[in-house]
Amino acid sequence: MTYSNLEILKVLIVDDESAICENLKSYLENIGILGTKIVDSGEKALIEMDKEEYNYVFLDLMMDGISGIETLKKIHRGHQLISVIIMTGYPSIDVVIDAMHNGAADFLVKPFRFQDIKIILEKIQKYRHLQIKNWRLNQELEDKKKVEELNIQLERKIRLQTILYNIMDSLSQINSSEEIYLYLVKKAIEFCNAEKACFMIFDKKDSSLIVLAQHGLDRMASWIKTEPIEDSLSKMTLNKDFVYSNFAEFVDNNITLDIVNRFNGLITIPFNIRGEPFGVLFVAQKEDRRSFDKEDEFILKFLAEKAALNIENIALYNNLKHSLMASLISLASAIEAKDSYTKQHSSRVTDMAIKIASQMRCNTDELEMLRSGGPIHDIGKIGINDMILNKPDRLTEDEFKSIKNHPIIGVNIISSLGLGFQELSIIRNHHERWDGKGYPDSLKEKDIPKLSRILAVADAFDAMSSNRAYRNALPFAVCIQELKNNSGTQFDPEVVEAALTVFAA
Ligand SMILES: [Fe+2]
Repeated sequence: MTYSNLEILKVLIVDDESAICENLKSYLENIGILGTKIVDSGEKALIEMDKEEYNYVFLDLMMDGISGIETLKKIHRGHQLISVIIMTGYPSIDVVIDAMHNGAADFLVKPFRFQDIKIILEKIQKYRHLQIKNWRLNQELEDKKKVEELNIQLERKIRLQTILYNIMDSLSQINSSEEIYLYLVKKAIEFCNAEKACFMIFDKKDSSLIVLAQHGLDRMASWIKTEPIEDSLSKMTLNKDFVYSNFAEFVDNNITLDIVNRFNGLITIPFNIRGEPFGVLFVAQKEDRRSFDKEDEFILKFLAEKAALNIENIALYNNLKHSLMASLISLASAIEAKDSYTKQHSSRVTDMAIKIASQMRCNTDELEMLRSGGPIHDIGKIGINDMILNKPDRLTEDEFKSIKNHPIIGVNIISSLGLGFQELSIIRNHHERWDGKGYPDSLKEKDIPKLSRILAVADAFDAMSSNRAYRNALPFAVCIQELKNNSGTQFDPEVVEAALTVFAA
């Protein structure tokens, strides 16, 4: 026999016939296999195999306790590299097939001759090499599969983290609620590969939903009636027929809107602000026709939560800003009220500036900036002596120098309150001139911020057309002529042109 390292091979003989066991053990020792142990039942064999590692098992089929086949199954399950040789006196074809199916390496028919053992061991020895090679290949394959699965999981985690970061980052740059609603719809479609999305808010007054942003829903109305349950806003439901006609997703019942609903081609995410129902996000039809999964739900809930937080922050900021602006406007009005001639001046200037800006097709943000910056453009006069401000006579050079500080004083007050650049530039630069001879920065032409150029024209026109301590109001026609005369020197010609159109109307 051509065994290598026979002395290190370990063999377990499992048979309740001790004579057979002893003969077999003697033979194995004769051929150099010294590590042989004998047990007389399947139970003992399994216990033994948990304690020691064996290479071969000679296993009798007919034993008390658990049968040879049951023992074989358990050995095969737990120790795949062990070669089990079945010993039986009744080798029917069924028994052979059953044993081979359950991992037997070969058969030894009782009574057996020693040369039979020799042949089987030689055969198994060859087979073992293949078996070990095959086992290693399988192990490698399994390891490779595990690595691939881990890679897929890792990629998904990276994608998820990227999406979450993207949401946090981009939301922090949005400053208006309207933009957030559009962002919600756009990102829901992008992150879930969906074709339709819609964001609606609840209207508490009549239990309806108002569509604020949508994509892919051509026929949908902008106002949808819901069906309230128990007069509770949180128990609003949406009619199943409505859902079917707009999202092409058949559902059995009306949809309750304060919970997440996940169907095959539709997911709805409740949108709460401070724990109160505020709206609902619908996303439908994934492009690859797959169902919305737990990951989609996680992303959309995260998106909705962060967007809700941003909307809340914007509302808080706006409230704060409005109350701050209201205080500043009262302060500016109080300054103007000290002089009966300048009463309501800033408010008239603001109205006029907004009309001119509209004529110049300024955008909503610019008009809003004029609306907030206009009434406080002279707020810096709080730092100027009343005697100078209300002096009926001509100002001395020093007094005029002092007056010229008011834009800078105004900016110093406002900048410490955290208002925006546009409001600051209205306050700082409303006395600049088109030809660069204004103050405080001597800016020229389009270096002067547009809103400051607009306010400068409105400011000058109101000053000319209202009574002052030192003169009466100039006639309207004279004021118009003054604007024309100073267009291109004091004033921006484009602004003058727009103002003339406004005054002619
Ligand atoms: Fe001023």
